[in-house]
Amino acid sequence: MQENHKPELLKEISRQIDASQGLSFAEFMNLALYHPQHGYYTSARTRIGKQGDFFTSSSVHACFGQLIARQLEQMWHLLGKGSFTIAEQGAGEGHLCLDILDAIDSEAPEFYSQLNYRIVEISDDNCRRQAERLQRHVDEGRVEWCRLPQLKGMQGCFLSNELVDAFPVHLVEKHGGQLQEVYVLNDGEAFREELRPLSRPEIRNYFEQIGIEPLEGNRCEVNLFAGQWIQQVAEVIKKGFVITIDYGYLAEDLYAPHRHSGTFLCYHRHQTNEEPFQRVGCQDMTAHVDFSRLQMAGQQRGLKTLYFGQQYQFLMALGFLELLVAMQSRESDPKKAQALRMNLKTLVLPEGGMGESFKVLIQGKNVGTPELRCQKRIQDIDPVAGII
Ligand SMILES: C[S@@+](CC[C@H](N)C(=O)[O-])C[C@H]1O[C@@H](n2cnc3c(N)ncnc32)[C@H](O)[C@@H]1O
Repeated sequence: MQENHKPELLKEISRQIDASQGLSFAEFMNLALYHPQHGYYTSARTRIGKQGDFFTSSSVHACFGQLIARQLEQMWHLLGKGSFTIAEQGAGEGHLCLDILDAIDSEAPEFYSQLNYRIVEISDDNCRRQAERLQRHVDEGRVEWCRLPQLKGMQGCFLSNELVDAFPVHLVEKHGGQLQEVYVLNDGEAFREELRPLSRPEIRNYFEQIGIEPLEGNRCEVNLFAGQWIQQVAEVIKKGFVITIDYGYLAEDLYAPHRHSGTFLCYHRHQTNEEPFQRVGCQDMTAHVDFSRLQMAGQQRGLKTLYFGQQYQFLMALGFLELLVAMQSRESDPKKAQALRMNLKTLVLPEGGMGESFKVLIQGKNVGTPELRCQKRIQDIDPVAGII
């Protein structure tokens, strides 16, 4: 079925545009994705997986969560093997939570017995989906849902996968040496863009802070909320780690001169487009994450960067190859074995896969500078013949 838009959402956005004589693109994106009733993430819909609009690593294969579970187990050891909270914000369909809890339950039962898994989720529709998928672990008293401030004092690890890229972004362009911002207007027939002076001084401040500016004529995104968010996360953690997985770059790469039109994209039924005013409320909108901002803002609240690397390095160091070999050896049907290989390749391959564009940032608060399991160098991993 062709979905063009949600009429109630269009009406509400038009009303707000008229009332304020224009909305910043970030305000428009916030309504399109998170309007309490009609937003893309808040309304009932299959978003992730084959029947949805996009895949995430955790929806590709359970081995993603199984490998993260190994890193979490080491973190539990580093914090003294006591009570440990894993908090996941933006848990989607609950795949990652399920795979992590299943893996810890079967591989590290003592850790499982010390574990609380707390989900912070903005979408009631997703909470329902998560609760169904996680029924067994909910029944065992391991999983609960909460708001971010309720995690105050937590000891453990705060985790997210593809959360930050879904935060609303300001769109900025440089013309005549001045930074300008994209606003959304309504000309009665359709929404349209207009460039205006920056809505908030924080946008200019950020570029001054990092000493980089977009090239004249280039467009880029500024995710102000990402910085506020990591500081809120830092404030609830008493002792522990933050793992943030997402596609993105450091600032010098994100704002490099060759990125003429930034990284903003919409996703609908596994097709990408650059048409935010089409299918409003029926498609996802994202922009690559600025990992420099997360590190700098986190640092100001006591989060020290312990690890920053590409997803393939992270997964390899945690035993991706051994897991693949073990799974293959249990699969007697050659067709299924090949399908498994193809599926798992998506997680680590650079071209057309998630291996390089996805990054993993691990920050720590009050934990010193431990050597993490994911820091094992690729050169030190035993090559396994005949794989991939
Ligand atoms: C792209 S999905 C990622 C889903 C999941 N992590 C995965 O790996 O499949 C983004 C998720 O973040 C949630 N989300 C977005 N903004 C949020 C916020 N401010 N607080 C909590 N959840 C949020 C969405 O509802 C959705 O569950």
